[in-house]
Amino acid sequence: MELNERVATIKAQLGPDLVILGHHYQRDEVIQFADFRGDSLQLAQDAQRTDARYIVFCGVHFMAETAAILAKPHQTVLLPDLEAGCFLADRADLPLVRQAWRDLGRIMDVEREVLPVTYINSAAELKAFCGQHGGIVCTSANAGRVLAWALQQRPLVLFFPDQHLGYNTARQIGVADEEMLVWDHRRFLGGYNPERVRRTRLILWPGWCYVHTRFRPEHVRAWRERERDIRILVHPECTPDVVALADEVGSTSYIVRRVKESPPGTKWAIGTEANLVLRLAREHPEQSIFCLGDEPHYCRTMNQITLEKLARVLEGLARGELVNPVSVPPEIAEPARLAVERMLQMG
Ligand code: 13P
Ligand code: SF4
Repeated sequence: MELNERVATIKAQLGPDLVILGHHYQRDEVIQFADFRGDSLQLAQDAQRTDARYIVFCGVHFMAETAAILAKPHQTVLLPDLEAGCFLADRADLPLVRQAWRDLGRIMDVEREVLPVTYINSAAELKAFCGQHGGIVCTSANAGRVLAWALQQRPLVLFFPDQHLGYNTARQIGVADEEMLVWDHRRFLGGYNPERVRRTRLILWPGWCYVHTRFRPEHVRAWRERERDIRILVHPECTPDVVALADEVGSTSYIVRRVKESPPGTKWAIGTEANLVLRLAREHPEQSIFCLGDEPHYCRTMNQITLEKLARVLEGLARGELVNPVSVPPEIAEPARLAVERMLQMG
């Protein structure tokens, strides 16, 4: 039997016991089978809502881990390729964040004065760290609201791991450049003197996404020269110089929504992962949609999820076997859930 047919047959057999979640960056061959497709926030909400026994997550590891953190006791989350990680999530780890917390603890009362905020693109341990210290998770879709809330809770916010999302969001909500700093985790107190840290409202972890930082200001300028009425739409993981030149900035769901609601003839150069941009171009032939860079940029690990690997997981389920389950130990899942639920309660 052909792969497409095998997957469709097992999906039908498992019925309501199975839900397949697919991130917008997934390949077409995979996303066609998703019961729900969305950005990382929507998929976390879908994971929280579903009652299906098996949640097959077509995305990267931190997304499946978030679903596992939210899963009810009768549910299992499976990821078609356990090696599908996230380069950005790997820029921060618990020992380095704990070290930063200890450094800050030398000059202030961290439990009262510093609030940790982690982007959802991070390991479960970091979400747990946030949960344990009154902190919260955010995604690119709600970063503004979460960051504004965090800044009201305590005078200083420690934001990890994406410096660009942190900076771009902070600028949107009115935080000034001199109120932020980028932490250097190789040096004591991030390389700053205590006075500078005390004057700061937002500490940015020095992480970045290799897909989104490939878009450069010269790409924006080149598109504007080529197509006078083009609109530049970018993801907030892009660097601030690119965001400053763009017409609009938003999460993957924002990007999808903006294209859907635009009239025929609209021209877009979109700065995000190529699977999504090229799909939007195919789905909206009435508009002109291009990848912002000089070539399409794919996320290598998102692309590691193939139809064949999805079929392998589903065939396992049909045999009563769990292929590639993702679980989080309760001592990490519980505090991590606190931080994720704090975000989801914000709506
Ligand atoms: P979204 O939150 O927009 O889905 O982005 C996730 C991601 O990994 C972007 O690179
Ligand atoms: Fe991670 Fe970047 Fe891939 Fe998104 S595009 S999953 S941030 S490496």
